[in-house]
Amino acid sequence: MSTPPKGKLPLPELAAMKQRGDKVVMVTAYDAPGARFAEDAGVEIILVGDTAAMVVLGYEGTTVPVTMDEMLFLTRTVARAARHPIIVGDMPFGSFQVSDEKALENAIRFVKEAGADAIKLEGAGPMVSRVKTIVEAGIPVMGHVGLTPQSATMLGGFKTQGKTAAAAAQLVEGALELEDAGAFAVVLEAVPAPVAAEVTRRLTVSTIGIGAGADTDGQVLVYHDLLGLSEGHLPRFVKRYASLSREIRDALEHYAEEVRDGTFPGEEHTYAMPEEELERFRSSISPSATRANDHAKEPTMSNSKSLAPAPVSEPPVRKTSSP
Ligand code: KIV
Repeated sequence: MSTPPKGKLPLPELAAMKQRGDKVVMVTAYDAPGARFAEDAGVEIILVGDTAAMVVLGYEGTTVPVTMDEMLFLTRTVARAARHPIIVGDMPFGSFQVSDEKALENAIRFVKEAGADAIKLEGAGPMVSRVKTIVEAGIPVMGHVGLTPQSATMLGGFKTQGKTAAAAAQLVEGALELEDAGAFAVVLEAVPAPVAAEVTRRLTVSTIGIGAGADTDGQVLVYHDLLGLSEGHLPRFVKRYASLSREIRDALEHYAEEVRDGTFPGEEHTYAMPEEELERFRSSISPSATRANDHAKEPTMSNSKSLAPAPVSEPPVRKTSSP
């Protein structure tokens, strides 16, 4: 585990990285452990994505239902845990589409109530004025074009965007407008690699690709997808770097099995008491005073263990739990 550098990554460092040709690493996170793991891995940007709807809140195939309050809660958790990476709060559907004023109010909530360093919002066209308004208020904005999941229905589903010459040109135009409006970076999702390369060449701010090929200034993946925590179909652009859902399932099944057959807890997980105190305790209680005795239950091999004196040496007590 590397020690993360102290202090917040300055936003202009992203432009400097583009100049140097250094890749920007962005990953999503939705809780404190995820934020700490991402920080320790040295990522530059953590996105508290509205993919939270699907990967942590249990909505299937849509990001639309997640609310401002839910996004603020998750962003606050991530911002509390990670110090160095730039924390980007993703504006959920309905929080910015209505008007520039409403968008600014909600962007301010991300910064003020949740500790985000920046916000991301989907779309170009009518959304460009939202970006301009928020940036003018002093809040950094990340744009997002190509496949914008909040408008997946309008786009005909979760499909690659910019596949025709006209659609590709429109995509380039949208990204340029977002840069002109003051966006500090633009996510390019599910677009052909040559189109993403062209956008990257034309923009002075960083492009962050997801399903956009290797020639963007940086890459982003969803935490649960890259760690193999998501199950079922995954888009072609996801690379799994671990199979954690398999490991978690195996561990939980093993735990359940050991609880049922009495293997867990073992002596090493059990607290003891001095022998003489145990004797005094036993003689101080009437033998028929327990409900278990009322039910005339024969002790089994495993529950009879608890009546035997436990070893006096204490197992270590975790700092965070009560003994
Ligand atoms: O919400 C999200 O996780 C995103 C990324 C896929 C870019 O927008």
